[in-house]
Amino acid sequence: MKDIQQQLEARREEARLGGGERRINVQHSKGKLTARERIELLLDEDSFEEFDMFVTHRCTDFGMEKQKHAGDGVITGWGTINGRMVYVYSQDFTVFGGSLSETHAQKICKIMDMAVQNGAPVIGLNDSGGARIQEGVASLAGYAEVFQRNIMASGVVPQISVIMGPCAGGAVYSPAMTDFIFMVKDSSYMFVTGPDVVKTVTNEIVTAEELGGAITHTKKSSVADGAFENDVEALSEVRRLVDFLPLNNQSKVPVRPFFDDPDRIDASLDTLVPENPNAPYDMKELIVKLADEGDFYEIQEEFAKNILTGFIRLEGSTVGVVANQPMVLAGCLDIDSSRKAARFVRFCDAFEIPILTLVDVPGFLPGTSQEFGGVIKHGAKLLFAYGEATVPKVTLITRKAYGGAYDVMASKHLRGDFNYAWPTAEIAVMGAKGATEIIHRADLGDAEKIAQHTADYEDRFANPFVAAERGFIDEVIMPASSRKRICRAFASLRGKKLQNPWKKHGNIPL
Ligand code: HXC
Repeated sequence: MKDIQQQLEARREEARLGGGERRINVQHSKGKLTARERIELLLDEDSFEEFDMFVTHRCTDFGMEKQKHAGDGVITGWGTINGRMVYVYSQDFTVFGGSLSETHAQKICKIMDMAVQNGAPVIGLNDSGGARIQEGVASLAGYAEVFQRNIMASGVVPQISVIMGPCAGGAVYSPAMTDFIFMVKDSSYMFVTGPDVVKTVTNEIVTAEELGGAITHTKKSSVADGAFENDVEALSEVRRLVDFLPLNNQSKVPVRPFFDDPDRIDASLDTLVPENPNAPYDMKELIVKLADEGDFYEIQEEFAKNILTGFIRLEGSTVGVVANQPMVLAGCLDIDSSRKAARFVRFCDAFEIPILTLVDVPGFLPGTSQEFGGVIKHGAKLLFAYGEATVPKVTLITRKAYGGAYDVMASKHLRGDFNYAWPTAEIAVMGAKGATEIIHRADLGDAEKIAQHTADYEDRFANPFVAAERGFIDEVIMPASSRKRICRAFASLRGKKLQNPWKKHGNIPL
């Protein structure tokens, strides 16, 4: 028995070494942690249970039968994050560059199947040279098996990808189908075709970092949801995110102990909206002041900054927040912000996370680039997502809610449950000046008359009462009391049940 135990320990020891000391040192010299070190940081201490530690590839081409490493370049298993179960795979770049073989894919598929079956999130730590070149189509088949599982798991369990090294070719499509992608600055990149192919085909000269680094994907392409300085920060932020998320689509959002009075009155909010209706203010300040302990986990912070998306807690329960940001493009909706918010709303709805919408929107951004870029279809995504969502929806209009954007931003008409407005709200088809110039075109040459018409329009519409008189606004509330009113609103909606008519699936404008 002792011999067998020793043999087991020796085999484990060998497996833990992956591709060997030399390659581990190279990994460290690039500022990257090893696959196992990453799992240790991601999960609670001693909670990791590994599967398939001794699996090896079955390839016999190119002398591969002589090069076998236990585990075959990916470490898989489950563990806990603050006591809650998650499944994890972590690609080991020290074994064939973390490349994906048939057996490597089978290991990933195994834990994905278990995650769906047992209702727990899947977290993929990606660090891979792509398809295992020696295995040819067997490795492409392996990728497709993973893709199919990403699709089936979508909306069933949260899927999170962390890109911690190369991720190229078709390999990017597995992370692309997950709910959140995080990248590590300077050491990770994602692209469908790398800089060499780009140069050959298009003559463009571009570095890997420019083409698919963390900054590119968080600021330009919006492929990634967040960029972090190093492996340690990325993993600890994933832990923080998981704390906000339900484990699956059948379980409620987690409720954590909270130390912030839900009835807290914040007098500073009474002066948040400036007197000048065109002056900006920071909507993030409102979010932070509403949230338990001021904790806001922002998603896509660097992209389409005219809309804010992320998670907060109210009375310990997770709430998704979508908020126009008057500091950027005056808070207008455009193609990018509509796409960003629509995807976030759909995530929340899929996982029964209630949605808080904070509105200060002067309308959709005008211009040829927006129209040519298809703002009609992209704006419709957000409209569709809000209208389809059956989760509790609480909306607060702080200032402007003009035109189509009023309708889109979780209005009463899109089944908003509580629609509040501050006394500073202005709900109208458009701003007073634009409206006057259209309906009093005949008086355009007469400055005095136009000023009078504009003032009349403002008197009539630059307030929340016309909407409140019709019941489109449930209540006009004082800014200072917003946290209390919103907490009470969500508390009253905990038993909400609403079902859309049966369908195979809708046809959201893509
Ligand atoms: C087998 C691979 C490999 C691969 C790297 N290695 N990629 N082995 N298949 N795809 C091995 C190397 O041979 C090397 O082995 C070790 O991993 C580390 O690689 P290096 O090149 O030394 O590392 P580095 O300089 O950091 O470069 C990393 C890299 C580069 C940029 C990822 O290795 C590279 O370009 N690899 C090929 C990428 C690629 O074209 N993959 C196929 C993409 S197509 P030793 O023994 O020396 O340590 C694809 C299709 C998917 O993925 C389709 C899905 C639908």
